[in-house]
Amino acid sequence: MIVLGIETSCDETAAAVVENGRRVRSDVVASQVLVHAEFGGVVPEVASRQHIATIVPVIRHALAEAGATWDDIDGVAVTSGPGLVGALLVGVETAKALGYALDRPVIGVNHLAGHLAAVYLEDPALPAPPPYPHLALLVSGGHTALIRVEGSGRNVLIGATRDDAAGEAFDKVGKMLGLGYPGGVQIDRLAATGNRDAVSLPRALPGREDIDFSFSGLKTAVSTLLARRTAAPAGSDLADLAASVQAAIVDVLVRKSRRALLREGFHDLVVCGGVAANRGLRAAMAAAAAEDGFSLYIPPPKRCTDNAAMIAVAGTHLLARGERSPLDLAVDPGLPL
Ligand code: KG4
Ligand code: ZN
Repeated sequence: MIVLGIETSCDETAAAVVENGRRVRSDVVASQVLVHAEFGGVVPEVASRQHIATIVPVIRHALAEAGATWDDIDGVAVTSGPGLVGALLVGVETAKALGYALDRPVIGVNHLAGHLAAVYLEDPALPAPPPYPHLALLVSGGHTALIRVEGSGRNVLIGATRDDAAGEAFDKVGKMLGLGYPGGVQIDRLAATGNRDAVSLPRALPGREDIDFSFSGLKTAVSTLLARRTAAPAGSDLADLAASVQAAIVDVLVRKSRRALLREGFHDLVVCGGVAANRGLRAAMAAAAAEDGFSLYIPPPKRCTDNAAMIAVAGTHLLARGERSPLDLAVDPGLPL
């Protein structure tokens, strides 16, 4: 089964062609990051307009790169939520028009289920996909969640953030430090040369058995610390701050994941979502896996951040079960897991 995936939930216009839910024939992402950077964050109206301008060329590019024709496409999978309403509409309406014109099934995919499915795509760093059931840590700009993945599309939320998502914490602190948007990527880059023990920052651990997250205390701590200074951090001082912030976020993510693995009695952990591209998190999770003896599955960085290959694979699983979306498929900006 060859599926065309379409993703437009936020600020990436993406299309991909995936064969049999595993082989990535093409994976095209047109990032709007430079457009939004001048505003310091994603501007929804600007994102929608950008998607409209980019979606058709991106899909054509994905087909060409896959060496596929319209005729080869067996189904169209598209993100229908959660995300920005105007942005989602561009992808969903395009998918429905294609499905109607080509007489092929269309399937709406939950963006979060897409992140969870990214690990099933073929990659040299992932010799075998994770067995079911497994635990997943989904860390993105909008979500921080521990999920019991019982089967394809059968997900149970067992832990979540009480305030900001991990990616949001990275981005907001990045903004305070005067770094460009998105802050997560800049903090990752700077942290590589900084000292993670330079500044002591809070790790929110409300209750021993707790597997929920909270990052608002970290934000306040950084803002208080900066308010006491007379000059904006720069050079090695800035790198040290970045490394300390990253360590504070990563420590909590690793600690809660370990706790959840123990509590659920699982031996397989998937880490996914944009923040899973973070080098500090990847290294710390690998160290924890070696120490505790669990198997770790993290997609390559480009499949952690938003892409359409992950939507195509999640859609393939649904289509293979005979699921179809009607032509009046609507978007749902607040779609739960
Ligand atoms: O999954 P994603 O691309 O979009 C959402 O579904 O939200 O995640 C975006 C988030 C942003 O907050 C971004 O700063 C963060 O992922 N991110 C990173 C890194 N790359 C992306 N955070 C830390 N380190 C990175 N290397
Ligand atoms: Zn995402």
